[in-house]
Amino acid sequence: MGWQLFSDSIKVSVTFTEEVRMAIFEGNQFDDRDFRRGAWHQTATTVAMVTTRDGDRENVMACEWAMIVTMNPMRFVVSVGPRHATHGLIEATGEFGLNFCSDQQARLSHVSGSYSFNDTNKWELADFPTYPAKTITAPMIEGCTVNAECKVISAQLLGDHTVFIGEAQWVRYDTELNPLLYRAGKYWYMGEQIPKD
Ligand SMILES: Cc1cc2nc3c(=O)[nH]c(=O)nc-3n(C[C@H](O)[C@H](O)[C@H](O)COP(=O)(O)O)c2cc1C
Repeated sequence: MGWQLFSDSIKVSVTFTEEVRMAIFEGNQFDDRDFRRGAWHQTATTVAMVTTRDGDRENVMACEWAMIVTMNPMRFVVSVGPRHATHGLIEATGEFGLNFCSDQQARLSHVSGSYSFNDTNKWELADFPTYPAKTITAPMIEGCTVNAECKVISAQLLGDHTVFIGEAQWVRYDTELNPLLYRAGKYWYMGEQIPKD
């Protein structure tokens, strides 16, 4: 059994069989928060904790929109909302630490992404195991899959986020850890490998 529903200009196509239910939403309703969130929730990412320090102001913030963008030189992108304290700290110092969470660090991600340095000392809410960086002043976090000490080489405001490109000055990685995955506002373990053919 299958049918199509039309609501405003969002076309909803729903197909039911006895065992499988599929729902496809499409349109250009970008002013509709639920439509935007629906698309976002269908993406899956890793999560990095962005660390910053300006004098005695030290912060950590969860960031799912973070990844390698070039290999040589090794550069990373982070997309940060301008109202976040982290944004001002990156702008003030021109550097940030990127600490990609392992699947043992969901709580650290949750705490660092649920409170702001603007009104809360996150370091007191969870036991973030820090170590000193070699090339930047921000602290780094132990137990991550990848740690990258980055200097900002570009910053561009793109709508509601600023995209910072950081060039890695020092990188450390642990091949025995698996990444924390994030989808639809929830954390997940990495699943089984899928054969290529
Ligand atoms: C798992 C997770 C991922 C997040 N990813 C991002 C992101 O990619 N970019 C962003 O600007 N905020 C992101 N956030 C929201 C910030 O981490 C959150 O607003 C935080 O409180 C900002 O902290 P700050 O004001 O101390 O910098 C994320 C939150 C969570 C929980």
